[in-house]
Amino acid sequence: MKAAFVLGNSFALSAVSATVRAKSVDNGTENAATQVLRESMGWTDMYYDAEVGYLYNLDSKALLNDTRSSAWYAAGLLARNEGNDAEEAAKIVKNIIVGQHKNVKFKAVGYGTMQLALTYLPTSGTGTTRSTRKNPRYRVGGVNDDILYPSYSIPAIMRAFMSGWVGRKLNDSNMTSSGEAYAKDIVTLFDRADILSEFNSGTYAGVSLYALTLWAKYLPPSSLMGQHGADMIGKTWATLGRLSIAHLKNVAGPWDRSYVYDMERYLSIFALHIWTLVGKTDAPINAKPWTMGHKDDFAIGPRIAILAPFHNTLVPKDTLSALRAFPGPHANLTIGAETFSENVIGGPAKNPSSFNPPVVQWSRKDASVGWLTLYAQTEELRAVASDGILALEYPQGNETSTFTFLVGQTRAAGRGTLRAGAMSRASKSVSGSRDICNLLTCCCDFEFWNFTYGMPEGSGGIPQISLSFELE
Ligand SMILES: *[C@@H]1O[C@H](CO)[C@@H](O)[C@H](O)[C@H]1NC(C)=O
Ligand SMILES: *[C@@H]1O[C@H](CO)[C@@H](O)[C@H](O)[C@H]1NC(C)=O
Ligand SMILES: *[C@@H]1O[C@H](CO)[C@@H](O)[C@H](O)[C@H]1NC(C)=O
Ligand SMILES: *[C@@H]1O[C@H](CO)[C@@H](O)[C@H](O)[C@H]1NC(C)=O
Ligand SMILES: *[C@@H]1O[C@H](CO)[C@@H](O)[C@H](O)[C@H]1NC(C)=O
Ligand SMILES: *[C@@H]1O[C@H](CO)[C@@H](O)[C@H](O)[C@H]1NC(C)=O
Ligand SMILES: *[C@@H]1O[C@H](CO)[C@@H](O)[C@H](O)[C@H]1NC(C)=O
Repeated sequence: MKAAFVLGNSFALSAVSATVRAKSVDNGTENAATQVLRESMGWTDMYYDAEVGYLYNLDSKALLNDTRSSAWYAAGLLARNEGNDAEEAAKIVKNIIVGQHKNVKFKAVGYGTMQLALTYLPTSGTGTTRSTRKNPRYRVGGVNDDILYPSYSIPAIMRAFMSGWVGRKLNDSNMTSSGEAYAKDIVTLFDRADILSEFNSGTYAGVSLYALTLWAKYLPPSSLMGQHGADMIGKTWATLGRLSIAHLKNVAGPWDRSYVYDMERYLSIFALHIWTLVGKTDAPINAKPWTMGHKDDFAIGPRIAILAPFHNTLVPKDTLSALRAFPGPHANLTIGAETFSENVIGGPAKNPSSFNPPVVQWSRKDASVGWLTLYAQTEELRAVASDGILALEYPQGNETSTFTFLVGQTRAAGRGTLRAGAMSRASKSVSGSRDICNLLTCCCDFEFWNFTYGMPEGSGGIPQISLSFELE
């Protein structure tokens, strides 16, 4: 059975487009994208419940269904299109549609699924669009409980696409114009500095690029999204090219939102994009991707692979070569930091694990990546990153303040190249403070050391700390 016949809509189109568009890029992309598709499908195949037509949860919960990965898998089946792949894909898509529910509770037409609420779209162009994709309490900011403001890049870009695309398909001009209105705000914010607000962390960069590809590929030139998507992808990659350290296979910090302290251990969608560009060996991904943290995202492989022949033509040449060899100095040590003053602790998501305002990464002797991040404990931080030095201070702190640094643990303990002495404190105001080291196996799938520096009693003044780094 032909995929296009079964569904007769854009799912099928996107699946076959891989072969059509591939002619415009070199065979490298086509081969690597095919490898991403095959490896991702080979893994997710094991989770497929053919009797029901749904994937089991990839974390192996109590035989629960997983809607998100089922939808990704269905696209992969259409792209692979072998044996009864197309029939199975149709079965899954039908199951997902059956699971869609309109929810009038929020005075808006809601389209979601029992398994995973997707998004809520407005009944009128002037209505407030809400999203239950994330609980409003999850994040600060927004208007009328709508937390998808333009600087919350990924869901904002995706919502604009869904409104714009579905609106056009349904001839619902209100929905279409809502999509355009969201897009206008996102584009305006982007144009301010040619950058997305969330752009440089593994997982979120990858999703933003994916969503912008939907703008560029599937919306017409009459749409702001169709007009700006390709340009935004090119500019985002240009910045990512300057921050991607090929030797470390990581993107330099700071990150406003990321759990990906080391992209070689924690699976990122950005790494899947890089895989289609430079091949698996040079991409920040383990040979066995399903052994990595956040492995569930590997199931998006088919979508990345299907879009790669189109998407990869938008990546600047400089970026492509930077992904293979970092052009600047300090390829073995990066320090990135940002100063902030907020009214919550842990960034917009109030999450100290994902808010990483200062980040240091270095190459260890065993070729693994060492990393250090400050665990956010304050609403305000002044940070200066310079050659080999990270200097921090808490303007509103006092002698009870502590600086907690999470430092990546290496499997071969003691073989790290970060000298213990290199974590000295240059600042007078913290000298003589106590150091506490705990080895933790903790949140975010990483093992790390906890280096906590306190202030000497009666020290007064603004707490400061300065770390200098030297590679052996
Ligand atoms: C791509 O592969 C096709 C078929 O294998 C071959 O004919 C073509 O020359 C290749 N193109 C490049 C740029 O390598
Ligand atoms: C899984 O999905 C199928 C099809 O929608 C449904 O019949 C079944 O009850 C679901 N199972 C669970 C555990 O949710
Ligand atoms: C679009 O919005 C207008 C004004 O709120 C409303 O009268 C109209 O019914 C809406 N149309 C659709 C298709 O929802
Ligand atoms: C939308 O309008 C087009 C052109 O008038 C028509 O072909 C199509 O069937 C309509 N779609 C829906 C879902 O009403
Ligand atoms: C980075 O470290 C590797 C070995 O880990 C070494 O071969 C390389 O020369 C170093 N690069 C720089 C720029 O120091
Ligand atoms: C120090 O700061 C903490 C946290 O803001 C506060 O609870 C405490 O009262 C302060 N102590 C002094 C002596 O100012
Ligand atoms: C780090 O260690 C300090 C001191 O033991 C402790 O208070 C703090 O909760 C730890 N932080 C994290 C993130 O584990």
